[in-house]
Amino acid sequence: MRSTLPDPSFLADDPQEFFAAHIEDWGCIGGVEDDGELIAFGVLGFGAQVPADENFGRLIGLSPDRLATVGQPDGVAVLGQYRGKGLQKLLLRWRLDQARAKGCRDILSTCEPRNRVSLKNMLSFGMRVVKFDYLFGGLPRVVLHKDTAGDAAVDMARAAVVPVTPDSLSQAFARGEVGVELAEGGLLMAPTAN
Ligand SMILES: CC(C)(COP(=O)(O)OP(=O)(O)OC[C@H]1O[C@@H](n2cnc3c(N)ncnc32)[C@H](O)[C@@H]1OP(=O)(O)O)[C@@H](O)C(=O)NCCC(=O)NCCS
Repeated sequence: MRSTLPDPSFLADDPQEFFAAHIEDWGCIGGVEDDGELIAFGVLGFGAQVPADENFGRLIGLSPDRLATVGQPDGVAVLGQYRGKGLQKLLLRWRLDQARAKGCRDILSTCEPRNRVSLKNMLSFGMRVVKFDYLFGGLPRVVLHKDTAGDAAVDMARAAVVPVTPDSLSQAFARGEVGVELAEGGLLMAPTAN
């Protein structure tokens, strides 16, 4: 799997225990099979069940009560020959449904900023790119967030394309902008109204 990636750091190197913990305690994992072979999976953690330091809500400073209702899609992969057929979207939709059924308010995920396929898919579900950080042992990542109770309004009239480099992204977040759409040359970012 890793050898098929444009850059191996697109996928965090999650140990076996990470997957076992999600199945047993932290959330769930959705899988897609073709003729008995696992061809795609998507991991989902629940804020009330993952260890506190693994709760993505902490990355954006959510209050303690909201940490408990985080739903976090945390890893997805599709075997090479099955890509481009909508499986990531299917697994994301399934995980968002699971999170909704569990009463999750804040949906949070992370992505390598140059992973345009994954970013595009998450943005298409209304998630916004809200932060850049080095996570999982120093890997560059953007944090995506959706507040299902209602996201802050954005001023699309003032939206501009920002290159997906650590400096440019960090400066845009410091200006109060969020990423709303992929665009030629980067990410379309718009200031939030509040
Ligand atoms: C990223 C990944 C999960 C995407 O899975 P996928 O099942 O191929 O994605 P989907 O088919 O659901 O993607 C659908 C959208 O992405 C687009 N897309 C898919 N593959 C693409 C490609 N190679 N280049 C450009 N766009 C592509 C499709 O056109 C589609 O967009 P549309 O709905 O606007 O037409 C898959 O490529 C993968 O496993 N990559 C390695 C692991 C990884 O990067 N995981 C993500 C960690 S955040």
